[in-house]
This record gives sequence, C-alpha cells and structure tokens, in this order.
Amino acid sequence: MSAGTSLKFVVWTFIVCFLASSVSLTKARCQFKQNWQGRWFQSGIQGLILINNTHIESKGECYEEQGDKYLVYDKSEDCYRCLVLHEKHSSVLQYKETYCETKDSLAEICSRIVGDAALYSMFRKYPEVKPLDCPFKSAPFTFGYNRGTGDCSNPPSRAESCTDDSRLVLKYQACPDVPSSESNVEELICLATWKEGSTKYLIGKISQGNRRSLTSDEDQYRCFIYQKGKEDGKIVYSIAQSGDATCSGLQSPTEGSRTMKLTIVDDQHKRCRFPEWITTHHTWVSLDHHKTFKFAQKNATLKILDDETTRPIRIHQNFAQPQFAFQDLGFESEDQKQNSEMRLVCHGILQQLDNKQVQIVAHVTAGCDSGYVCMMFYKRDSNIMEIQQSNRYYENADEACATFDPSEIAYTTLVAPTLHSKKCPHLGRYSIQLNAFMEKRKRREQPGDLKLGNAEPDCISNEYEGLSVGCSGSHEMEFKSTCPSQSTNSYACHGSWEEDGLTYVITTPIVTTRRSTIHQDNTLRYCFIFQLSNQPQEDVIEGGLGKSAGPPILKMSKVGESCHRYVKPGVGGSWALNFTSNGACDQSTSDNASSILIPAIMLIVLSIAATVFLR
Ligand SMILES: *[C@@H]1O[C@H](CO)[C@@H](O)[C@H](O)[C@H]1NC(C)=O
Ligand SMILES: *[C@@H]1O[C@H](CO)[C@@H](O)[C@H](O)[C@H]1NC(C)=O
Ligand SMILES: *[C@@H]1O[C@H](CO)[C@@H](O)[C@H](O)[C@H]1NC(C)=O
Repeated sequence: MSAGTSLKFVVWTFIVCFLASSVSLTKARCQFKQNWQGRWFQSGIQGLILINNTHIESKGECYEEQGDKYLVYDKSEDCYRCLVLHEKHSSVLQYKETYCETKDSLAEICSRIVGDAALYSMFRKYPEVKPLDCPFKSAPFTFGYNRGTGDCSNPPSRAESCTDDSRLVLKYQACPDVPSSESNVEELICLATWKEGSTKYLIGKISQGNRRSLTSDEDQYRCFIYQKGKEDGKIVYSIAQSGDATCSGLQSPTEGSRTMKLTIVDDQHKRCRFPEWITTHHTWVSLDHHKTFKFAQKNATLKILDDETTRPIRIHQNFAQPQFAFQDLGFESEDQKQNSEMRLVCHGILQQLDNKQVQIVAHVTAGCDSGYVCMMFYKRDSNIMEIQQSNRYYENADEACATFDPSEIAYTTLVAPTLHSKKCPHLGRYSIQLNAFMEKRKRREQPGDLKLGNAEPDCISNEYEGLSVGCSGSHEMEFKSTCPSQSTNSYACHGSWEEDGLTYVITTPIVTTRRSTIHQDNTLRYCFIFQLSNQPQEDVIEGGLGKSAGPPILKMSKVGESCHRYVKPGVGGSWALNFTSNGACDQSTSDNASSILIPAIMLIVLSIAATVFLR
C-alpha cells in the first residue's frame, strides 16, 4: 500500500464515518415518553407545541436522555439545549431549560440550569383531556375573594355544582367598598391535580358565562393551589388562582393574583328520600325509551338522562395536523352531553297520599344550571308511574311548589324496564262504529268505482273492522283488519288506570311472524286512551222500548310518547278508532270471532306438532 492510497483510505474512512454519524443524527438517539405525544399549549407561545416520539416542536430532537434530563438538538440553529422535564399529570408537563449551546455532554449542559430558572408549564390539548372531578367536595359553597384590593366577602359569592363533578359555577358578587370586585359568573372545569410536598395544585379552565367559544387558551387555563381546612367546625377551602396561564407566581393557597375562601353552605338539602314505592324500581324509562330515570345515593338522588338531545358526532382529532388542532371541539361536545342530563336531590316531601301520590320539592342540577322544582309522582299501576315537574327553577325551595298547578302541567309516563302482562280493561268484542264504516263503504261503491270495487271487495289495508279485548283468556287486544290476508294487529296490556272517565292502558305490540311464533316487541310501548260511553239518547230509534240506547261506544287513540291528556279518544293520537260494543267475549254475536279462534288454535297445535316431529 502506497502512502497515497493509504491517505485515500483514511479520507474515505473519514467520509464514511462522517456520513454514518450524520445519518445517525437524523435518526434520533432517544425518545420522549409515549404518552407525551400530542399538541400542548404553553402560555406566551403562538399555536400549539407538537410533541412526537422524537421531537418537541421549537425545542428540537431528542439526542440524549438521563432520567428527567433531555439533551435536545436544534437542527435549525445547530445547537444543543438541556430540558429538565417533569410530568405532573398526564396532561401537564413542566420544564426548565438552558440556552441553546454548542455541543457538550448532557451533564455539562444540564448543570448550567440555575436554581431560580423559569419554570414553564405545558397543558395538553390534543388528544383531548378528559376533565376530572374537582377537588372541592360538596357544593354549593359560599365564598369571599380578594383580587389584591381587599376582601370581598359581603355580600357572599356562591359556587354551585354542575351535573358533572368536573365543573363548578362561580357566581361572583360585587362589594361596594372593594374596587376590583364585580358581579360575574365563571365556570371552572377541572383538568388536572397533583401534589408537591404538602402543596396541592389544580389546573383548570375558566370560562366567562356564555362567551366561552370566544376566549383563548391564554384566557382560560389557570393554575391553582388549594388547601382544605376547618373553621368554626365547617369545611373551608383556601384557593389561590394564577393571574395567567402558568403556575408561576403561586406560592401558597393564600397568595396569588386572586384568592378565594370557599365555605360549605349550611342549608344543605335535608336529603329526604324518594318514597319506597317509587324507588322499588331503581330505573324507570319513558315509553319511547328516550328518558331514563335512575335513583342513586341511598335513594336521595334521581338522575334523568335524555338521549333525545342529539349528540354531536365526534370528529376524529388528528393532533398532528394543526388545522384540526385549533378547533376547540372538545369542550363544546362535553357541554351538549351535560345538557341532556339532570340530577335531582330530594329536598322536602310536601304531601303523600296512600303510597300512590306524592309532592316533592327537589333541587335540580342540569348542566351548570340549578334551582328548586316542584314534582308530583303518581303511581298508576305496579310498574307504571307518571310524573309532573314545574317548568322553571326557583332560587328558594319554599317558592317551588307555591304556584304549582297540576292541571296545567304535562305528564311524563314512565314504566319499569321489564313489564308483565296484565288484564286489559274493557274486556269484550267490538266492531268498528257502523256509521263511519258504512260511509266509507258507500263512497267506495260509487258508480265510477264499481268495477274496481268488485275486484277488491272491502279490503283496504290499515283499516280495521273489529276489536277483541282479553278474549281467549289472553291479556291482549286484537285489532282485526278488513283485509283477510293481513294478520291481526295485537297488543299486550301491561297495566291501566282510570282518570276523569278515560282509561289509560300501557301496551306493547305483539309481532306475529309467518311461522306463527309470537313475541312481544319490548322496544315499543304505547299508551292507549279509551273512552267507553253510552250512545246519546237521540240515536234511539223511534218506537224502541226506550230502555236501550244502542250498544256502548268505545273510542280509542294510540299515543307513543306519554299518555298526553290533550289527546281526545277517537280523534287525536297516531291512531284513532271508534267501535261499538258487541258485548262480552263469550256472548259472541259475531261468528267471525270463533272462525278466527279455531285456525289460531289449529296453528298452535300444528306448530307444536311440527316442533315435536322435527326433533
Ligand atoms: C416528529 O416531528 C418532526 C417535526 O417536528 C418531524 O420532522 C418528524 O418526522 C416527526 N417524527 C415522526 C415519527 O412523526
Ligand atoms: C332504595 O330503595 C329500594 C327500594 O325501596 C331499596 O331496596 C334500596 O335498598 C334502597 N337503597 C338504599 C341505598 O337505601
Ligand atoms: C269518533 O267519533 C267522534 C265523535 O264522537 C268523531 O269526531 C271522530 O271523528 C270519530 N273518529 C273516527 C276515527 O271515526
């Protein structure tokens, strides 16, 4: 080997080594924690900071790691800086850093972080942070506050709970003698808590009334130090709030840009219990299944969920794409969910009647709205009840029932999740009221329609000619169609009650499939409203005995949502029919009934036989 080639070899080795090292530079040498990945907000920095497994945006690429110390390489400036990163909570990172310097060891660069170096806080925005229960238990509170210009505790401000325990509504009062005090409503959403020594920290988002969507992260993120204590035997929370979206400048629960002292309110709900005849079913549902009523916490709390409020579609958050990151969808969607949930606490039982009817004052929390309402509960049958609730919230419990008028308030009909068949009211056989039926037939038999009429005798789908209630020993109502081909439309009865001359029946449709297997469709429940009345005297045919005014008339309507009182039987509802009575089941005046019955029995026998043979 000549000196020349040997030199060439050295140069080549050097080039290869250089290339290799530069390749390894682009391939990161260390990684940040998996759960740090996302977009983070930091006060004073435009936009959000992206952290992926190798990079922290604006800081650089992970170069070397030792415990909580990271040496990061900033490619654009070709320099190195040390970051000391602490994860305070899965959504809070705090760090101190050095200037970006020429390459040196991690230990050397990191040693240049001085004790009083600025501490920065980053709050994770994406992936979305799930709020957590606020650490201040048992709202409502009264509180006084200080914004650096004196205590404002008279009149006292109030903090109210929300349905969601991760929220608190702060209703600030103005004090005439304190310059910086003003009356204002703020909502706090608790996002993260941690402890350092004996100091407890909370990160929350503050929003002002309904201007939520207009305020920036800079205005919303706040850091708190809080402490639970006792004063005069009452639980007291001392809270200091930061003046900006950092945790700097907070030292103790009594020093901060704003301090508050929350005291648990004495006049807690007396926490009566909802009567046993109501809580015997822990869950009640509305007929259309949209509302669910659930009793909790020793039967003193009732939770009402209403899924009719349409939930927003969750938009997939691609946190690596800035255009998505700036849409603050997370909290708006949380809000809408909260609006469909109500929490009621029994505050006082006013009057109770025979375990059948009760008037209750309840404290309601719906989203972050709260107040007192008057409620009536009516037991209608063992698995059926109805409730009424005043339309607005009252500040004082005493006002809630003062002007309550049951005759002016709608009923919500509720049933237990499982229903059993029960005897139907108005047993017997009925046929469609003749005058109406014949009028239609006459119309059909007009000359022009004659040919058509012959081709399709008397058959119009969705038209009924007969009804039998509870005949053949079943707890069912069978509506007989005018079309022989169409199967009968049957409903199982689950309980009924009478009110003001009307009968209300809760039913479920019975689905008969071709193989004559019968099952109840429990997802559908209806309220049938009946009115049975004798025919008016005018209808008596002259020369009749004067005793009989013709067979009784049964008017009925079917309603889907609740047993609405405004529905007039035979007129309103999703389905209205008028029948005349043919008498009791056994005194069958119509041969049709028995001719239906026999094939039905035959079919059952045959199907039993078939199943036996098929085995
Ligand atoms: C991490 O982000 C940096 C830019 O900040 C980018 O160059 C790099 O490709 C990203 N890495 C991954 C694995 O996505
Ligand atoms: C709530 O009421 C139901 C029925 O009355 C009863 O079985 C249950 O034990 C009660 N729960 C509590 C916690 O008191
Ligand atoms: C039932 O009778 C009432 C009168 O009593 C009438 O107004 C209503 O239209 C009738 N309904 C039907 C479906 O025929």
